[in-house]
Order: sequence, then structure tokens, then C-alpha cells
Amino acid sequence: MKFEERTAFITGAAGRIGRALAHEFGKYGVKLYLADINLAGVEKLCSALNEDGIEAHPIQLNVMEPRQIAESAEAVLAEAGRVDILVNNAGKWPRGSILDTSDAQWQEIIELNLTSVFRVSQAFLPNMRKNAYGRIINLGSIAGEVGLPGLCAYSAAKAGVIMLTKTMAMELAICGITVNCVSPGMIADAKQPHNGTWLGRTGTGDEVARAIAFLASDESDYITGADFPVDGGRILGPKGSDWKPTEKN
Ligand SMILES: NC(=O)c1ccc[n+]([C@@H]2O[C@H](COP(=O)([O-])OP(=O)(O)OC[C@H]3O[C@@H](n4cnc5c(N)ncnc54)[C@H](O)[C@@H]3O)[C@@H](O)[C@H]2O)c1
Repeated sequence: MKFEERTAFITGAAGRIGRALAHEFGKYGVKLYLADINLAGVEKLCSALNEDGIEAHPIQLNVMEPRQIAESAEAVLAEAGRVDILVNNAGKWPRGSILDTSDAQWQEIIELNLTSVFRVSQAFLPNMRKNAYGRIINLGSIAGEVGLPGLCAYSAAKAGVIMLTKTMAMELAICGITVNCVSPGMIADAKQPHNGTWLGRTGTGDEVARAIAFLASDESDYITGADFPVDGGRILGPKGSDWKPTEKN
């Protein structure tokens, strides 16, 4: 993959997918600003990356706080001059059906998973527009594509992320900025057998990170507004039909 002296800002960087992505970007010399509400987590990650010779800076950021978003963006842009790649990755999926989600829980889940994408993107867009270059990758979910019972607010928020991605792609194409979504499903710490995916196993953060990195690379320049499932085929048609593999399979 090709990255020409790029700088990336990743939210939720201390988590499973964020950590894997930071290491993946590190392979290509991307300068990293790693933001998370969990400062100790991003500090530890940056120390490990720095030891490998990768430039990475930790940032404490709660993506539900508009002032903190503005201040982080200002500080990063003052130091780095530009942000070429933004990965809106922070998110949480607390359980809650339509019957047992309170109004406050609904607001919080929408704010964290959807509104933060809108706000963090707005904070970096003037710089990307000025440079006539940007790659924004938002984290969706299979929950936002087909819905998941027991995750009503989260599914609605991630569906919103997918539509926000498409709309931003249309509005920002003229500015040289592409916007895509990666929608993981069944991601765990290791590959484990799982009946719910056509590939018969769970996926890993590394596998999601490689898809995000490709969309962030210089080589993805004709792709915008797409939603890429990275889910082992989880959202394809249901398993258990009458079809059986033949000897050719
Ligand atoms: N793991 C999966 O199976 C899966 C499936 C579908 C979608 N996703 C999406 O991928 C993204 C990353 O998931 P993950 O598996 O790495 O999760 P994770 O829980 O390992 O990491 C999420 C990170 O977000 C951070 N975070 C939480 N609230 C925050 C806030 N208010 N401000 C800033 N940071 C905050 C956490 O501290 C954590 O480091 C999320 O958007 C998630 O919805 C994950």
C-alpha cells in the first residue's frame, strides 16, 4: 500500500481495532495522532510504536465533548500542519432493546457512535479542504446494515453512520476528499470457530485494520461513499438453506 508522507488522526485508538490500525499505519510510515478517552491506553500504545521507530502521539479525547474535539484538532493541526487521514473509530455497544432503553441511554449511544463522527469530521474538514486532500473512514457495523436485536440505539446510530458517510462522500468529492465506511462483524481477539459467519470463524482487529488502511491509502482514490463489510460474510443470506456443497466444493 502507498502512503505519501501522510498524517492520521484516529479516535478510539486504544481499543482492539484502533491498536491494530495504528500498527498497520506504522508499517507505512504514517505519522499518528492517537486519541481515546482512555489516556493510559493510548500512551502505552504510543510507547510501543515509538520503540519501533514510529512517530505516534497520544491524545486524551472524549468524542462526546465538542470543546475537547475542537481543542484536540487545533493542537494537532498547530503541531502537524495537516491531517490527511481521519478514522472515526470510537464507539460502544451497550445492550438495550426498544423496551428497555431509556431516553438518556438512547441519547448517549447516538451521541457517541453517530454525532461524534459528524463533530470530529467537521473539526478536520477545513484543513483537508485547504489541502484539497482527505481520506475519512468511519466505522459502521453489521448492526447498521441489517440491525441486531438487543442493540436498538446502536443499530440506529451505525445505520446513521453509513448514510452520513454516503452524504459526506457526495458533498466532499469536489474538495478532493473521499469518505468511506468499514462495517465489522464478529471481531474477537483471535480467530475462533463461529457458525454465524459463512467463513465459519470470527475475525480479528488486524483484518479490519487492513481494510481501513487500504481505504486510507493513496491507492484508493476512485473509491468513495462505499460501505465495506468485514464480517466473514455474516450479512449474506442466511445459512441453513437446502443447498449442499457438491464434490466440486
Ligand atoms: N469489535 C466488533 O466486533 C465490532 C463490530 C462492529 C463494529 N465495531 C466498531 O468498531 C469500532 C471499534 O471497535 P473495537 O472493537 O475496537 O472496540 P473497543 O471497545 O475495543 O474500542 C473502542 C475504543 O473507543 C474508546 N472510547 C469509548 N468511548 C469513547 C469516548 N467517549 N471518546 C473517545 N474514545 C472512546 C474506548 O476507550 C476504546 O479504546 C467501534 O466504532 C465499534 O462500534 C466493532
